[in-house]
Amino acid sequence: MFKGRAWKADRFGDPETVLQIGTDIWEEPPPGSVLVKVAACGLGLPDKFMTEGRYPIVATPPVKPGQEVSGRVVSVPSGSAFRTGERVMGITLYGDGWWRGGLADYAFVQERKCLRVPDSMTDESAAGFTIGFRTAHAGLIERVPVACGQRILVLGAAGSSGAAAICLSKALGCEIFALASSEDKRRFCQSIGADHVFDYRQEGWVEAVMDATQGHGIDVIFDPVGGSTAKQALATLAPAARIALIGFASGTWLDLDAQDMVLRNYSAIGVFSGGFSAEEESQAYARLERMARDGEITTPLGNVFEFEKAGEAICLLETPGPGKTVVRVAEGSPGLFGS
Ligand SMILES: NC(=O)c1ccc[n+]([C@@H]2O[C@H](COP(=O)([O-])OP(=O)(O)OC[C@H]3O[C@@H](n4cnc5c(N)ncnc54)[C@H](OP(=O)(O)O)[C@@H]3O)[C@@H](O)[C@H]2O)c1
Repeated sequence: MFKGRAWKADRFGDPETVLQIGTDIWEEPPPGSVLVKVAACGLGLPDKFMTEGRYPIVATPPVKPGQEVSGRVVSVPSGSAFRTGERVMGITLYGDGWWRGGLADYAFVQERKCLRVPDSMTDESAAGFTIGFRTAHAGLIERVPVACGQRILVLGAAGSSGAAAICLSKALGCEIFALASSEDKRRFCQSIGADHVFDYRQEGWVEAVMDATQGHGIDVIFDPVGGSTAKQALATLAPAARIALIGFASGTWLDLDAQDMVLRNYSAIGVFSGGFSAEEESQAYARLERMARDGEITTPLGNVFEFEKAGEAICLLETPGPGKTVVRVAEGSPGLFGS
């Protein structure tokens, strides 16, 4: 049995009000998961939504946020592919409802969604690696897939999925066109590999993208945003282009027009990173683990918060800064840990 701190909300509401640090107990990991002593925890918008009661798979409180973590394995079920002491990163156990997130001293990590951390990777980078890159891999490698030299337009490019898509498509040899709302975010996109950046809030950005492609147009759009930005982006598509539908950060999905798709010969491809077989998932994670080990991809890390500031970090997730938001967990009060 392990005891430690955990962020938890006993009722839905404003994260800054309802989230509190308490103590919790972790028993041995259930089959298919490992127990990890958490070093850092990666956050995403679902953490805010579930705390507020706006996330369908968390129908009732209590809420324990924290989608992904890095840390060391402290306990495994028999037959596990992992050993205690191994440094890992992965997605926490929330399949039956978000009942035990990673914003805590310990967390259960799903074995199928657990990777070994390369020695060169920091705990903070490892905590923000899995979800973003798994999503980008699902879109750009498994579902579309993109080819070296293709022109990729990334929407929401400074966000968690978008920034990972920039890093991955750079590693695949693509030319990257990135959309972001602020100078700060556009500089961040360039720093992680975007070749061209645009402010989608400025009139004329569609024409600017077309000019930057010398009139050829975009081969693949990676769209975690939807809404009117994605609708406008369709005008940049080259013949026989594809759009990967990832999400709706704008609040609405892209509204597709079948007639336009037919007349301009483009396709839309739905992408759900959780929708693959165990074998496909294992191949995807093996490839991502190798790319990270070889230094081909690195987490596009954004703001890093201390454990005590995690409530504040969750409040900021609806208007996040550039890159992946991470909370440092390990440097808290080690005296609380016990077994
Ligand atoms: N399909 C899957 O498997 C999968 C996996 C993970 C996430 N998702 C979904 O993908 C979406 C994004 O997730 P995320 O984690 O990347 O979110 P995120 O880190 O919050 O990033 C979203 C980005 O979207 C941009 N944005 C917001 N409203 C916009 C608008 N109206 N027009 C243009 N850009 C806008 C924001 O940047 P600006 O400041 O530049 O506007 C922000 O950086 C969510 O809907 C999520 O559920 C899907």
